[in-house]
Amino acid sequence: MIAKLVIRLCQFSPYLKRLIWRKWYDLLAGHYQQRDWSFMNYGYVPLNPDAEQLRLDEADEPNRYCIQLYHHVASGVNLKDADVLEISSGRGGGSYYINRYLEPKTMVGVDYSEKAVAFCNQSYCIDGLSFVTGDAELLSFKDNRFDVIVNVEASHCYGSKDAFLTQVKRVLRKDGYFLYADLHGKGNIDTLYEQLRRSGLTLIKETNITPNVLEALDLDNNRKTVLIQQLVPKVLLNTFQQFAGLKGTTIYEGLRSGSVIYLSFVLQKQQP
Ligand SMILES: C[S@@+](CC[C@H](N)C(=O)[O-])C[C@H]1O[C@@H](n2cnc3c(N)ncnc32)[C@H](O)[C@@H]1O
Repeated sequence: MIAKLVIRLCQFSPYLKRLIWRKWYDLLAGHYQQRDWSFMNYGYVPLNPDAEQLRLDEADEPNRYCIQLYHHVASGVNLKDADVLEISSGRGGGSYYINRYLEPKTMVGVDYSEKAVAFCNQSYCIDGLSFVTGDAELLSFKDNRFDVIVNVEASHCYGSKDAFLTQVKRVLRKDGYFLYADLHGKGNIDTLYEQLRRSGLTLIKETNITPNVLEALDLDNNRKTVLIQQLVPKVLLNTFQQFAGLKGTTIYEGLRSGSVIYLSFVLQKQQP
């Protein structure tokens, strides 16, 4: 019920959409300080039977599916020695993973939730990794600052994708890459392609990862169900279940029926 109302309000006004999501993520970061909750995405499972299992440290195993989504997105290009920006870094697990496993020169995570950024700066204190507050639609970094930009499961919260893509192109260096993954309503896909075309970035690769994400949602369903029951008051149970994409929720059923599609992209800034 609450989830449906939020979806309606978000469709109605970009201003309300920004406001509602910002309040939601601030509430999550302010209220839930558990260090081991470091991701907020639906996850990814490679479906190719020949795919090699991603090697992870023991401590990272509980977050395997969420990390695999980052790995799928971030391994679109070689990040070694690159200056990498993650836009909408959330609880920081993705930037932390990239920094430790993919060896960028520097890794910066930016998110508009001040509480999420404070949580990240307290949780991850390692060389080369930093988190700052900022808005995806109006970044304060100077032009041509990064070699690679990563964005995972966040652009559906933004008021304007055009504004976001303008910022991506501005802060990317020439020949830099934009690695992008999110879910979209089927009816919005043509608009998305038009927005990507308008951005001036060149499309290098596109993958429909809906089946991979669904498989992760299926495999992680029990763990998330138990976690939500332990952490969340009864009155918010349904909202959190919707947010987590548990079986039977609007997003889960949308992905299953094809009315929601999860896409990943590699784009490049070939023109200044
Ligand atoms: C679903 S979470 C994904 C977080 C992270 N990428 C992950 O996969 O764990 C969406 C994130 O987008 C952030 N966000 C939403 N709108 C934003 C904006 N306009 N600027 C920066 N961050 C934003 C939220 O604060 C939240 O952390």
